[in-house]
Amino acid sequence: MENGKQLTGTLALAVFTAVLGSLQYGYSLGVINAPQKVIERHYGRSLGLWSDRAVPASENHTEEDQVELEAGQHPAVTMYWSLSVAIFSVGGMLSSFLVGFVGDLRGRVKGMLMVNVLAVAAGLLMGLCQMWKPHIMVISGRAVMGFYCGLTSGLVPMYIGEIAPKSYRGALGTLHQLAIVVGILLSQVIGLDFVLGNDSFWPILLGLSGSPAILQSLLLPFCPESPRYLYIVLGNEQEAQKSLYRLKGKYDATADLEEMRREKEEADREAKVSICSLIRSPLYRDQLVVALMMHISQQLSGINAIFYYSTSIFAKAGIAQPVYATIGVGVINTVFTLVSVALVDRAGRRTLTLAGLGGMCLCAIAMTVGLKFQNDYAWMSTLSMVAIFLFVSFFEIGPGPIPWFIVAELFSQGPRPAAIALAGCCNWTCNFIIGMTFRYIQEALDCYVFILFAALLLCFTIFTYLRVPETKGKTFEEISAVFHKGRKKNATDTELQQLKGSTEA
Ligand code: GLC
Repeated sequence: MENGKQLTGTLALAVFTAVLGSLQYGYSLGVINAPQKVIERHYGRSLGLWSDRAVPASENHTEEDQVELEAGQHPAVTMYWSLSVAIFSVGGMLSSFLVGFVGDLRGRVKGMLMVNVLAVAAGLLMGLCQMWKPHIMVISGRAVMGFYCGLTSGLVPMYIGEIAPKSYRGALGTLHQLAIVVGILLSQVIGLDFVLGNDSFWPILLGLSGSPAILQSLLLPFCPESPRYLYIVLGNEQEAQKSLYRLKGKYDATADLEEMRREKEEADREAKVSICSLIRSPLYRDQLVVALMMHISQQLSGINAIFYYSTSIFAKAGIAQPVYATIGVGVINTVFTLVSVALVDRAGRRTLTLAGLGGMCLCAIAMTVGLKFQNDYAWMSTLSMVAIFLFVSFFEIGPGPIPWFIVAELFSQGPRPAAIALAGCCNWTCNFIIGMTFRYIQEALDCYVFILFAALLLCFTIFTYLRVPETKGKTFEEISAVFHKGRKKNATDTELQQLKGSTEA
């Protein structure tokens, strides 16, 4: 795979275009936080719970304003607000199952193009929400956007993993996460009240989340289809070769084609692997456990507790200007994802994941100490803030970006779409669980809340140490050989036959 120009303009264009989908995902993750109060007020108005007047930003509220503010705590408003936040993950959980189907239907590129209809529709629903009942329009928009993001968070890493040259697969794969974090940061900045997060412009703020899809739709027709899809799924060697030339420049593609031919042979032998057969098959069990555990550790590390609730966590830790500290988190997040892009193909996936999870575990302990003693020593709030910043940095070095692309590396062409779908669903489900439960866990454990994450992180570090292999610089064939070592040798024809039977079922 390693001859030919490695990084061509076409490859750069293809990766840039694909990650516009990830940018949209990040923006949608972050956009709902800052303008919460503003949107709740509009919900209250449209539900007839208060008058049509904006509440002034001054401290001296009139009695009438007070009534309006209290209506903000109205259970109906709280319920519609929580639904607006949570429905996004529900959409993602449902659609992530369809990633394999959409990716294989007409190819990765056309798949990404098709699903953009959803993003634009979601953007319009939210952008035009004041034309009808805002709470219904926003909730519908968030549901459709979540559905779109569930698909895009699988299709993008799948496409990039398949077109990237092996020595840059990690760096290019990490760009998916980089675009996510840039999206989060963008939404945090545009969401400030003096930009768009205010009474007049919040629908535009939400509606903008559909705009990268328009740019992506214009660029996708210029992106080559994944050669692996063309050859291994469609059996079209000539088109695959053309696509390789477009991606890598004119070069001797024999080795690449030969590798794909062997993978195709294997894929043909195994038949198409559905989600059910992947779960049942003993042949892929080890890979599947690793893939799912990496996604579970990404989410149960507690990262989104920070992202969803950072402002209140900072306020609790006694930090002045918590909103700006939150933006600081967004900046650190982006900077360290860049560090990961630079390191991942040198240091390797396993090392970075281990260092990241271990570091996060120590930071979670430091955060607990900071929260516990914040009333005793003034410098404890600084400790908490530094610990939160480091927690996020360690996350972005490995546990953040790596799970997204390693699944495409761990599986060969046959089971890859099903594996990405399952891992994505697992990620979205854990994300939903943390989003829904963190508030209650925080109430129950108070200053010890991060000890829970520290314990989980310790378990994930040990798991990674024991079970996650290094995939850096290996061909897909070599990676599956790591898992099938021993098993392949012992796999009898009956076993393979059984698998074939179960996959065809
Ligand atoms: C990863 C996670 C996502 C999280 C983000 C933070 O992409 O999947 O849930 O919000 O990182 O950077």
